[in-house]
Amino acid sequence: MIVKILVLFFKTVILNNAYRILQKMIVLGIETSCDETAAAIVQDDKVILSNEIYSQVTEHQNFGGVVPEIAARAHSNILHNVIRTALKKAGVNISDLDAVAATGGPGLIGGVLVGTVTGKAIAAAVKRPFLAINHLEGHALTARLTNDVNFPYLLLLVSGGHCQLLMVDAPGKYKQIGTTLDDAVGEAFDKCAKMLGLGFPGGPALENAAIDGNGKRYNFPRPMKGRKGCDFSFSGLKTAARHAIKNQLGDIPLQNDIQDIAASFQEAVADVLIDRCANAFLIFDKEKKSQKVLVAAGGVAANSRIRNGLSQLCIGSGFHFVVPPPHLCTDNAAMIAWAGIERLQRGMVDDLNFAPRPRWPLEDLNNN
Ligand code: KG4
Ligand code: ZN
Repeated sequence: MIVKILVLFFKTVILNNAYRILQKMIVLGIETSCDETAAAIVQDDKVILSNEIYSQVTEHQNFGGVVPEIAARAHSNILHNVIRTALKKAGVNISDLDAVAATGGPGLIGGVLVGTVTGKAIAAAVKRPFLAINHLEGHALTARLTNDVNFPYLLLLVSGGHCQLLMVDAPGKYKQIGTTLDDAVGEAFDKCAKMLGLGFPGGPALENAAIDGNGKRYNFPRPMKGRKGCDFSFSGLKTAARHAIKNQLGDIPLQNDIQDIAASFQEAVADVLIDRCANAFLIFDKEKKSQKVLVAAGGVAANSRIRNGLSQLCIGSGFHFVVPPPHLCTDNAAMIAWAGIERLQRGMVDDLNFAPRPRWPLEDLNNN
């Protein structure tokens, strides 16, 4: 009898626990902070089991930009299907999830509400932890999902709403050393693309137009270049591009003029980013960090000219350059699931009372 009980104990308790220990941790990520409705399933061994993105391009196309109300409605109509597809493609049931991570901000509040409410409901239904992820932290930690990057590292975060240089010491530990004084770099790309009639979203369209353009034809200003510190400014460049477009492009713009302006604009942006990163290297060095690593993240880091420029800078400066593949630079839910895993591993979970935050600077995480 005792032997039977021992065998049963061994089978149910020991084997089950061993099985759970050997099993990978699986997290569902949800991203709804702007115009991408996204869900992903990611394992703690860095395997992305699925990564679904519905881009609301047609919804916003006629408006030349993202309309918050339309975005929120689209998220609420589509999100459940996107999650269902992500689970199906990953071959995972919701009961297999170890946690649910959803973007809690910063972003358009309607979309963030849809994502967090859905994430909380799933977490509550399967009785698993909920993690409210700062969207910028999602971008900031992606390089650790795609590459072997240890802390600390220098981060260039370049997206539609942000342009910052930060030191990253751990999840929730960020020190900003530079930011934009006016426009975000992605916003500048989008506005220039719109003035050139390249459509929306502007960044990839402008990069595409620049491929056959002459980047030396227009000597656009390089705001902040050569100045001390790591701050950015793009409004002067945007104005210069507007003047060039007004003066050079007639009623029927020539294709090669458009291409030359796009290429010259992209050169100016790349020059500025490289100059600011070179200054950030000096600050990073002064802090005597244990390793020299530059990570680029955010939608603009998908740009090939910028990737190549930063890579060259790093080669010349003894820094190791890491940038995720382009599809993981632009908004996605795999980065949210991964940030969830990083936080879960450190016991940094949130409760279901978490209130979405339209504004949520990365440095605010230091106080949590
Ligand atoms: O990170 P992201 O997808 O969304 C935000 O968090 O903002 O970044 C979107 C921004 C947009 O401004 C978009 O035009 C820009 O990134 N972007 C690019 C490229 N792909 C996306 N900018 C330049 N070149 C690209 N290839
Ligand atoms: Zn983003």
